[in-house]
Amino acid sequence: MAWPNLMPAQAARGKTYGLGGKEGNLIVWDTLWLEANAATMAAGGKDYGAIFDVAIAVKDGRITWIGPRAELPHGEAKATHRLGGRWITPGLVDCHTHLVFAGDRAGEFEQRLKGATYAQIARAGGGIRATVANTRAASEEQLLLESETRLRALMAEGVTTIEIKSGYGLDVVNERKMLRVARQLARRNPVTVKTTFLGAHALPQEYDGRQDEYARLVAGPMLETIAQEGLADAVDAFMETIGFTASQTEMVFAAAQGRGLPVKLHADQLSDSDGAALAARFGALSADHLEYANEDGIRAMAAAGTVAVLLPGAFYFLRETKLPPVEAFRRHEVKMAVASDINPGSSPARSLLLMLNMACTLFGLTPAEALAGVTRNAAAALGLADDLGALEAGKLADFVVWDINHPAEVSYWIGGSPARTIVRGGIVVGGVQ
Ligand code: NIG
Ligand code: FE
Repeated sequence: MAWPNLMPAQAARGKTYGLGGKEGNLIVWDTLWLEANAATMAAGGKDYGAIFDVAIAVKDGRITWIGPRAELPHGEAKATHRLGGRWITPGLVDCHTHLVFAGDRAGEFEQRLKGATYAQIARAGGGIRATVANTRAASEEQLLLESETRLRALMAEGVTTIEIKSGYGLDVVNERKMLRVARQLARRNPVTVKTTFLGAHALPQEYDGRQDEYARLVAGPMLETIAQEGLADAVDAFMETIGFTASQTEMVFAAAQGRGLPVKLHADQLSDSDGAALAARFGALSADHLEYANEDGIRAMAAAGTVAVLLPGAFYFLRETKLPPVEAFRRHEVKMAVASDINPGSSPARSLLLMLNMACTLFGLTPAEALAGVTRNAAAALGLADDLGALEAGKLADFVVWDINHPAEVSYWIGGSPARTIVRGGIVVGGVQ
């Protein structure tokens, strides 16, 4: 089933907010949401930007008015939802995923538990290459169905926007196949999808010993085809001792920027490769992982406005011990996002809520920081901060109604989801009405 496109931001910005649509002299909203508290997560807001006894008025898929119910202007709604004192947050944004892949790597999980490391398995031809073989062998239909199951698990918890990377095809045909599947998922499900071309994820076997040549293929013909077909919204690379070098990454990024595509980087995950600084130099939307990021790089990220995407699932699943420098991100006022990094090797995480809990318990984020990490800051990491990530007049009406008594509960529960109703563009798309 195809879902209607929401009003594009540009068209919506031409409208007046704070009033709602006017029919005659009366303000008429499509929907009105009452008898709830809101964790608006608005920038600069204290304590989750909470509004108690909130009213949210929605018209044409966007929030047209939000504030204390006592101050709601006089108007009429075609439908009113009374929420029984529950909490509302922005729809969750999972800003770093490798959702589209075929098969699993449970065998490697067993090997790692017997002592093999992630890097050793990768060097022996397993790791990402194993998933490349499975993904190349899978039909587009099979890839779609396998990935859709994972997508729906995330959506059931309140994810309304998701980033999906390629990177398990590593040739033109299969990278396109992955990105087409990501676009298909967006057409078939009530979720916003941002795609990222990650051709520089690993060296495919057929290029052994010819890494520069492969990097030129990624930056040249591969990117050209993918950009021409409009299949990518951004470009990413895995810069690491077991991934690509700084100069190969720079070549890919320069090509991306030449085509007007923003970049993001898997940076400083397993070693300090000065990845944070490189990402900042290219004005990257985000630098991701960052366990080994150094202070200079963090300072550069702050100056460039590059978001730090923290991935506790990979840290946990690879049993890493080096914590990301959260205190330095705070000190330099680098925005922190949190994402699932869902992938078959380092983070088989079909729960973003569990990532919130881990971001708090493992990385020391406060529950308010964790929630900002999957709302406001995650939207910024995708270049969507104008439209998403906070409950504010003018933004898209994507939100979640939770069966909780305090917004810290979103990060608190382990297993199960307190998400009760999931709303996208003002329409209930999941849970109960
Ligand atoms: O984000 N670091 C590289 N990419 C993924 C892992 C991919 C895989 O192992 O299949 C990550 O952790
Ligand atoms: Fe990743």
